[in-house]
Amino acid sequence: MDRLKDRTALITGAGSGIGRAAAELMSREGARVVAADHDTAAAEETARLVEAAGGRALPVTVDVTDDASTAAAVAAAVGEFGSLDVLCNHVGGSDPRKDLDLLRLDMDEFERAVALNVRSTLLGSRHAVPHMIEAGGGSIINTASVAGLVGDVLQISYGAVKAAVVNLTKSIAVQYGPHGVRCNAVAPGAVMTPALRDNLPGDVIEALKGYNALPYLGSPEDIAHTMVFLASDESRYLTGQLLVVDGGMTIQSPAVPGRRAMLPPA
Ligand SMILES: NC(=O)c1ccc[n+]([C@@H]2O[C@H](COP(=O)([O-])OP(=O)(O)OC[C@H]3O[C@@H](n4cnc5c(N)ncnc54)[C@H](O)[C@@H]3O)[C@@H](O)[C@H]2O)c1
Repeated sequence: MDRLKDRTALITGAGSGIGRAAAELMSREGARVVAADHDTAAAEETARLVEAAGGRALPVTVDVTDDASTAAAVAAAVGEFGSLDVLCNHVGGSDPRKDLDLLRLDMDEFERAVALNVRSTLLGSRHAVPHMIEAGGGSIINTASVAGLVGDVLQISYGAVKAAVVNLTKSIAVQYGPHGVRCNAVAPGAVMTPALRDNLPGDVIEALKGYNALPYLGSPEDIAHTMVFLASDESRYLTGQLLVVDGGMTIQSPAVPGRRAMLPPA
């Protein structure tokens, strides 16, 4: 219940999916939550949900690709709650209709993906770290993706920028570890967010399950629980690491389905 008692956690992309689940679960563990999103109504709804459950929350409108806007979000967090102990740089993504293969990639989309995933992580951390140093420590949690660990036929930018987030995580951990600032990343696999449920047909979602070692897809809470762990002192000896939370999608050989068929009947 009190794993994050008296801590302030700023979560970007808190208006939806995994970010909203992180806001709710961190609040349940005692954190004061800053729900930051460029969708003001969505940030306000997350804050309302947190407060309705008995927590404290501040909704903040932010564009994580913009330096001044990010600085203002961090200042609002510190101004309201007096500290910033946890930062989740959660916003990210790319548009799979424009982020195609090497030759057909829309270069504007590439630049957008760099800004949304890498620049945002860098800016959020740059503005948060001085407050964490002043407080004697803190925890930064970056959202990577399994897409940053393997090659793909589509979304060449997305894979590259998520791989960059992993290296950024290690450098921040090395540079500010001596001040007690930890920095880790989470790489979600397929997660049933509202966006995924709305955009993919049921048979495609069913097929996605078949890629996991576990027989189900992840929920936003599955990722958010990992973020709570990384925010809490339970992970105080963990820094610069990538936790892959993917139901075993990236641990198995692509030959598994064929080899399963070779097994004698149980
Ligand atoms: N859902 C998955 O299966 C999955 C898998 C791997 C990684 N991820 C990563 O998780 C993160 C978010 O995923 P999600 O599924 O929760 O997404 P989502 O679309 O449900 O939520 C993203 C939130 O970010 C906000 N946002 C978008 N651009 C913004 C900006 N410039 N400034 C501030 N807020 C902005 C949106 O308004 C939205 O509320 C991304 O980094 C994504 O790459 C998701």
